[in-house]
Amino acid sequence: MLAGKKIVLGVTGGIAAYKAVDLASRLKKSGAEVRVVMTEAAAAFVRPLTFRTITGNPVHLRQFEEPRVWNVEHVALAEQADLVVVAPATAQTIACLALGLAPDLLATMLLAARSPILVAPAMNTAMYLHPATQEHLATLRARGVVLVGPEAGTLACGAEGPGRMSEPAEIAAAAERLLAGGGPLAGRQALVTAGGTRERLDPVRYIGNFSSGKMGYAVAESLAAAGATVTLVSAPTALAPPAGVRLLEAESALAMREAVLSCWETSEIVVMAAAVADYRPAAPATGKIRKTGGDFTLTLTENPDILAELGRRKQGQILVGFAAETGDGHARGLEKLRRKNADFLVLNDVTRPGAGFGADTNIVSFLYPDGQARELPLLSKREVAARITEEIIRLLPQ
Ligand code: PMT
Repeated sequence: MLAGKKIVLGVTGGIAAYKAVDLASRLKKSGAEVRVVMTEAAAAFVRPLTFRTITGNPVHLRQFEEPRVWNVEHVALAEQADLVVVAPATAQTIACLALGLAPDLLATMLLAARSPILVAPAMNTAMYLHPATQEHLATLRARGVVLVGPEAGTLACGAEGPGRMSEPAEIAAAAERLLAGGGPLAGRQALVTAGGTRERLDPVRYIGNFSSGKMGYAVAESLAAAGATVTLVSAPTALAPPAGVRLLEAESALAMREAVLSCWETSEIVVMAAAVADYRPAAPATGKIRKTGGDFTLTLTENPDILAELGRRKQGQILVGFAAETGDGHARGLEKLRRKNADFLVLNDVTRPGAGFGADTNIVSFLYPDGQARELPLLSKREVAARITEEIIRLLPQ
């Protein structure tokens, strides 16, 4: 899978550094030429000799050591790489990359890199959940850095929670996907919306819905696996974005509209899986609304319909809508599909067991403008997403 690819593997100082040996071995076995850059802290956990033996290449450790062949080492490594993988990536290295700091060879090389960067964070749960780390990870995601993990579990320090580095097999698979460059949707730009928007009443409350984002995230993952360059516009969810997908966060319907319109024109494929609120409070309060002892009347104003707006602007894009209905929504789904000018619509009856909000499965029908419908059985959301991707590939002009 990776034959002829040059991968720089950055290893930083955490106990998961020992798993990077397995990762280096897997990348090498897949055919990649692997160069390892270690921080000094990483070398305290695993000896450079181990990586040299596995990869067959010298290991790069210090910025100013005498090179075997004269070149500016960090620039040379960065220029030659098809992909840079940092695994494990400590909070420190993640912060350096987010802030543009270059205190060591690895951080310097990361700043000079022009190739895609894949980062597998690994750290103590409290460090991972610290707002600074979360902000740095959000910055990296927004810049297109691919994050794999971390996973939740028991950490070396004994704590339970997120922070464990993903398994080497998973990181290697993400690297292969990133470098595959092929796939039926290679070179195509896709835009996916996911999650349920939040419409603020005041600084502490909002009107929301039960969307978990699972359906939309599965679609984004599936399109990316087929080779598309995917932007995921997501309302708040508890999910990590799929590897290789650019994430734009949007809290409300208005914010989602703005984010969608910012990348609509360059997208050839648009899938609107988000549950967008139809209404928002007309005048959100600036302070917390207080009890008065009586009834409370809230005036709502209609939100723009993003899908309908895209349908009006459509110029050759494949536009896929969803419809969340209660009961047999076939007629209503068809009306939505036609009114919003989508190419096909994924209808789900969200009252059926195993379908709709929050579940890992869904039961959907594809509806088409000519009135035809295709019913799918109960499937995992990933499988539904794969069927949607297949349908998009079928409809795309070759
Ligand atoms: O996120 P999960 O927990 O996995 O749940 C998945 C899901 C149930 C949210 C998903 O399968 C789904 O049905 N998404 C669409 C939900 C929805 O808002 O349906 P709707 O019938 O209200 O809207 C129809 C279409 O118009 C949708 O594509 C919606 O994104 C879009 N829309 C709606 C309102 C609005 N103001 N702007 C829009 O673009």
